[in-house]
Amino acid sequence: MNLKTLLASLMLFVAVGIVPCKAVDIIPYPQSVEMTEVVFDKANLENVKYKKDKKLAPEAYELQIKKNGIVIKSSTPAGRFYAEQSLAQLADDIVMYCGTIKDEPRYAWRGLMLDESRHFFGKEQVLKFLDLMGRYKLNRFHWHLSDDQGWRIEIKAYPNLTTIGGIGCNTDRNAPAKYYTQDEIREIVAYAAERNIMVVPEIDMPGHASAFVKVFPEFDGKHRTVNPANEKLYEVLSTIYQELADLFPGSYLHIGGDEVHKGAWGELPGMKELMAKENFKHVNEVEEYFGRRLCDIITSKGKNVVAWDDLIDSGTNPEGKVVMWWRSDQPQLLQEGADKGFDMIICPDGPFYLDYVQDIRDKVGHLVDRQWVNEMKEIYEYEMLDNPKVIGAQSNIWTEKVVTTERLEYMVFPRLIALAEKAWTRSENLNYDCFLKRLANEYNYLNTRSLYYYDFRESMRRVEPRR
Ligand code: ACM
Repeated sequence: MNLKTLLASLMLFVAVGIVPCKAVDIIPYPQSVEMTEVVFDKANLENVKYKKDKKLAPEAYELQIKKNGIVIKSSTPAGRFYAEQSLAQLADDIVMYCGTIKDEPRYAWRGLMLDESRHFFGKEQVLKFLDLMGRYKLNRFHWHLSDDQGWRIEIKAYPNLTTIGGIGCNTDRNAPAKYYTQDEIREIVAYAAERNIMVVPEIDMPGHASAFVKVFPEFDGKHRTVNPANEKLYEVLSTIYQELADLFPGSYLHIGGDEVHKGAWGELPGMKELMAKENFKHVNEVEEYFGRRLCDIITSKGKNVVAWDDLIDSGTNPEGKVVMWWRSDQPQLLQEGADKGFDMIICPDGPFYLDYVQDIRDKVGHLVDRQWVNEMKEIYEYEMLDNPKVIGAQSNIWTEKVVTTERLEYMVFPRLIALAEKAWTRSENLNYDCFLKRLANEYNYLNTRSLYYYDFRESMRRVEPRR
């Protein structure tokens, strides 16, 4: 664009009150863009030269679109993959221009959590989500594989965990057992790795443990918990985590730790003895003890711990541990976790949870009766805590009220795309109105994937799937 046309278009924008959006149609928006008015001949799209540039950060890339071909610079396969994603998005536009894009992420952890205990969606749906995550440069798939309603991962040492623990879901206690075999897990993990996505499995303990307790009644801690005073429990968990450590090559395992109902713990077998031995005055200290024991098991397998923010007070050594701040009604926990030295992920239920409705007119969702709406704009414009211990952002989808894949897609998209831009793009390049323009173009691509997304454009609004 020459100076005259630039000034003219700027004046036009001001005159009609439209935000002048930046130059390329890429989500998440890249860090630095220098485009020209020279049209790129798409016949040259296959002519790509790859160059290693050790100076670039692990996920960074440089994409040069020249008249007669493409140059991609990166220091890792991840950077190369992300350059290819940007290129694919540019190539979706009718006209493509020559220019240079230099890009790297704002945050190292850019995640989605999927709950498959409450309802199970299966391999094809997970692969579809991984594909889309890769396109938007998300790199952590946090997989909630156990909860009260079902245990969803085959453990060779304890087959009953799936054949019995896998029976039921949130809408049908007797639904046939559904779970992932270890072969399926390996296939999914490999598929994710090709897209630079680490799969982080979660076994939720000591609360949300009914499916586990159904198989191991001797560890029952009542109110959907396990009994931390039973020493044998740690042996079983160590065996389970060993299988997880072998199956998931990523460096993290998630131990859960949220919403522990300890009302009956004082009376559990072995509890008085444990509390006397450890000099505990309150069962809260038993929960902290359990957290520390689990952390030690994970560390002994050579893995790093991820946990919900309930772990912050456990007294565990924070070194290398990731805590997910989810309780938006306790904002101090985020700073507290960072101050203690944990790596913090920002995923507050308000507004980052995708199980809450996105549109006040929708009827099914968590706390919909209290009119709790998590709008896409709130995710996009959320003010992130400026602290080096904040390493990322994540959206979570709990599936108590998500039965079908259609509803799952409707709840996740496009809010996840807004989260992806939030987690990748530097704040100075974030502009919600411009994002919506790029998103509207992106819907053409989502249509090719037969994705049942929510459409923010009033005239295109789709029906909310109720199940
Ligand atoms: C949670 O939402 N209970 C982590």
